[in-house]
Amino acid sequence: MAREQSNERMEKLVSLCKRRGFIYQSSEIYGGINGFWDYGPLGAELKRNVKDLWWRHIVHQRDDVVGLDATIIMAPRVWEASGHVDTFSDPMIDCKTCKGRFRADQIHEIPCPQKPSKMVSECHGEKTEPRAFNLMFTTHVGPVQDDSSLAYLRPETAQAIFVQFKNVLETSRQKVPFGIAQIGKAFRNEVTPRNFTFRSREFEQMELEFFIKPDEVIEAIHGRVAVPEGKGHPGEPQPDWGWQMWHQYWVEERIRFYESIGLPRASLEEYWQTPEELAHYARATVDILYQFPFGTQELEGIAARSDFDLSQHERYSGKPMKVFDDQLRAAWKELPEEKRQALWQRYYEARLGYLTRSGVDASEAGEMARADADALAKGQYIPHVIEPSAGVDRLVLALLANAYSEVTETDDKGRTETRVILRFHPRVAPIKVGVLPLLRNKPDLVRKAREVRDLLRPHLTVFYDDSGSIGRRYARQDEAGTPYCVTIDFETLGEKDPALKDTVTVRDRDTAEQVRVKIDELPAWLLERVR
Ligand code: GLY
Repeated sequence: MAREQSNERMEKLVSLCKRRGFIYQSSEIYGGINGFWDYGPLGAELKRNVKDLWWRHIVHQRDDVVGLDATIIMAPRVWEASGHVDTFSDPMIDCKTCKGRFRADQIHEIPCPQKPSKMVSECHGEKTEPRAFNLMFTTHVGPVQDDSSLAYLRPETAQAIFVQFKNVLETSRQKVPFGIAQIGKAFRNEVTPRNFTFRSREFEQMELEFFIKPDEVIEAIHGRVAVPEGKGHPGEPQPDWGWQMWHQYWVEERIRFYESIGLPRASLEEYWQTPEELAHYARATVDILYQFPFGTQELEGIAARSDFDLSQHERYSGKPMKVFDDQLRAAWKELPEEKRQALWQRYYEARLGYLTRSGVDASEAGEMARADADALAKGQYIPHVIEPSAGVDRLVLALLANAYSEVTETDDKGRTETRVILRFHPRVAPIKVGVLPLLRNKPDLVRKAREVRDLLRPHLTVFYDDSGSIGRRYARQDEAGTPYCVTIDFETLGEKDPALKDTVTVRDRDTAEQVRVKIDELPAWLLERVR
């Protein structure tokens, strides 16, 4: 029953998204293409707001994060270094009876061909053995299509950040700890795209790579490594934080972000990946999950990726990825010999572990690890990284699901009607204010309404609507999730009460309450409530 209700809720959401221009099937007039979605006028605004808010929160409101906007196609060696060529695959099986193709771990249910948001049981035909299917889309660069021109559409935005790490460090006047953020398209050839836009083949990511000092470096400089003492936000970053503090900090920062755009904390869950689930690069990963109608699923992963990525690019490109830290060099000289040796040994073992796990021959690995540990004395190390990685499309879907509500009203003739209200947080709402002249055939009202529209437009997304009854127009804006509607009426013209001249009615979407606000105070009044 609960499952049926959530399927029904999902059906309604998908249908609303199409009807109101949030999300359409890609190439719909040609029958669509599985796993690809387009954002219509309201969806494009919603998505843009999500990305702008993320950027503001992660980049503009901090001193220690800068941005990057890199290409989708990169040198193919990048994906060898990152491990994607060898390991970025899902187990795929075919059904010999229905000819369906499935992910081995999702074999029991598939998206219904007629209604992709609905899951249906799969047939019980004989299956092939699972085989690895690489999720990267391939293409060719230039006119010749052979192995030498093979390239990939990036499966994550993260790698460009690692590849450009040294350039950014040298040109941005940042020092570790600092972060590089990027928003952009990524592509994964999912075996079974599912749950509407949740698992798509083309999608957008918002990723931050936050570079930190290894714990051995922190201990050399500060004499100790601060570790979390409990749950919750650990407060302002401190110089003695080790990777676990930074990891917890970013998990909490990200949850605060979700709350700030209207996802209640109670709708979110933290999930610590088990050692078996961790990606090849991760030391620890916390997934932030949202209770979607189709189940509780990942919105964002916050991974502690150690120094894996920069180390890989150092080995594969032959370009040094170490940073120089004068505090470390000075502190190292002052350390008691015993401490120096202990830190050297720990760092050496960590580097050796990484190198041998990455397939470097044992004797060569020992030599390389020794050189890395010796570099500490010169103030050099490869930074570690904490990566909060969020999906734009998943977040947009979560915001839509969270905002969706229905109200049933009975009019004075006893007719009942159920209508939809999208209760978006004003910060993400696609349209911030509807401007409505009470009547469209009264030139004075229309002229004044256009003046109000033009007054607000430089500050906010405005929708001007003069068609239909005022009740219908409110309902249309409720369904688009517009938090405020401004009505220009006869009071505005001063026809009923001169004291009300140049005031407008502002209606609140969620309470339907109306207040009068002076036109010249309206931009500030609205901005205070929608930012
Ligand atoms: N960069 C991590 C991910 O794409 O999942």
